[in-house]
Amino acid sequence: MTILQELEARLASALATTLGEPTSAAVTAAADLRFGDYQSNAAMVLAKLRKTNPRALAQEIISHLQLDGLATADIAGPGFINFHILPQAYSAHASALLRDPKLGVPAIGEGQTVVIDFSAPNVAKPMHVGHIRSTIIGDSLCRIARFLGFKVIADNHIGDWGTQFGMILQGWKTLLNPEALEADPIPELLRIYRDVNAATKADPTVLEICKNELVKLQAGDPENLAIWQQCIDVSKRGLQKIYDTLDVQFDHWLGESYYNDRLAGLVDEFLKKGIARESNGAICVFSDGSKKPEDDPFMVHREEGWTDNPAIIRKADGGYLYATTDLATIQFRIDEWKANQIWYVVGVPQQLHFRQLFDAAARWGKTGDFRHVAFGSILGEDRKLMKTRSGDNVQLTDVLTEAVERAAKIIAEKNPDLQGEEAAEIARIVGIGAVKFAELSQNRLTDYVFAWDRMLALQGDTAPYLQYSTVRIRSIFRKLDAPFDATAAEISLTAPEEIHLARLHARFGELLPLILEDFRPNLLANYLLELARAFHSFFEACPVLKSDEPLRSSRLALCELTARILSAGLGLLGIRCPERM
Ligand code: ARG
Repeated sequence: MTILQELEARLASALATTLGEPTSAAVTAAADLRFGDYQSNAAMVLAKLRKTNPRALAQEIISHLQLDGLATADIAGPGFINFHILPQAYSAHASALLRDPKLGVPAIGEGQTVVIDFSAPNVAKPMHVGHIRSTIIGDSLCRIARFLGFKVIADNHIGDWGTQFGMILQGWKTLLNPEALEADPIPELLRIYRDVNAATKADPTVLEICKNELVKLQAGDPENLAIWQQCIDVSKRGLQKIYDTLDVQFDHWLGESYYNDRLAGLVDEFLKKGIARESNGAICVFSDGSKKPEDDPFMVHREEGWTDNPAIIRKADGGYLYATTDLATIQFRIDEWKANQIWYVVGVPQQLHFRQLFDAAARWGKTGDFRHVAFGSILGEDRKLMKTRSGDNVQLTDVLTEAVERAAKIIAEKNPDLQGEEAAEIARIVGIGAVKFAELSQNRLTDYVFAWDRMLALQGDTAPYLQYSTVRIRSIFRKLDAPFDATAAEISLTAPEEIHLARLHARFGELLPLILEDFRPNLLANYLLELARAFHSFFEACPVLKSDEPLRSSRLALCELTARILSAGLGLLGIRCPERM
């Protein structure tokens, strides 16, 4: 049990005694440590309901609170109950954490299957820095959800059946350079896509040809299908390389094309059930009128007032759309994978798509907890959308290569002893870690500025700082003559720095479930920074190797627990930690 859960349990029994009926109330970590470690506003909330004096009620609750061995409690302000955890409770908790491979993290996801839909780039188009956010956030959510006991299915819903294939087919047939494709396929596919795209702008007949190629592909033309398949294969190989660099894994790659066979039946079913109807030759989902227009994704406010904002699921020419595929995908994930939840890690611009999708799925009887985990843009240091000098979108591979190169330079300066493959491996771990941490330490909804120097700094709110802190703690243990058994240590906390460190250790298991309430890995990132800073203060104030037993072992155990939580926490962000740096 976490300390927070323990407090909630004891508060619940005090409330039951005070009020004469079972009552539970939330306890939260205090924002300001001067007022204690945890607090509850239970007395204020309940007093309002019962129209009594909140401070008097708080006093009565406290008189029934059995906190022995755990905490003391007092009242503050209009009726807050503040809890002050006893140092011995923190020591006991730290000892328990050292024996727990899960480091106090509860299995809140037990019995739940969640599909996490992330990355999902479009084939034959490059992954750009927008996809980087989805990939990094999605991967971290997979790791966190698994650690919390969810059954996680990571699915890469790649865009492998879009209208871009009209242009790619035309380019493949007329412009392809087979050697370039062999050498590095993704840029070559991108080149032909761009060249044809430019040609369509100059000459409308080219656009007609492309459309025709697309129609042939969709009708199952063998030549076009074979080219399409080859594009998918080379693109997947190129993408896999990037995922390897990023240390990201998927359980499935069921792209849009996987659902092609299901779309016609789906549209028929929607028509039959009255969820969709014909409009100007297209089949569309309209509002069912069950919601206020403000909350209805199929209504939009225009100058003339509220008007329909339907989702097309079959175009007048018979083509199916992104929304159609996504509906079929939901059905598949529920039926085949028994998904209880689906989290879509996709940028803010697709918000309307997902609101409509979830609404239509519910009307179709597909129930589950579906969430759009949206995120903002990445900006360059000029605060404009990040572009290359030639005005193109910055490509993910270039960002990663540059990160590793810059990390290598810094490492060579700071630690010239590191050489060869070891130095190269550390540069990869540090460079990629820095990019991931810069992403994950931000609120996902805000646009963030991509600043190399800031993200690679060894001091500051960075991955290298956390990695360096972990490496430093581990190096303490290398100075010992014999292996240290932290579980045998008697932990005692007296210095305020020790108590604060143990306080943060206890927070790890309380914090992780909160992350999933609103999908905010930045809570973990910021917690790890706080933990590392607390460690450095402790290490400055409290001699470790130079103290006498039993204090020495107690402090070594705190070091060990800190290192374990730091590396577990970094691992949940998808960030590795080197042995040395
Ligand atoms: N391929 C899409 C894009 O790059 C993202 C797909 C997200 N997943 C989904 N099921 N719609 O914009």
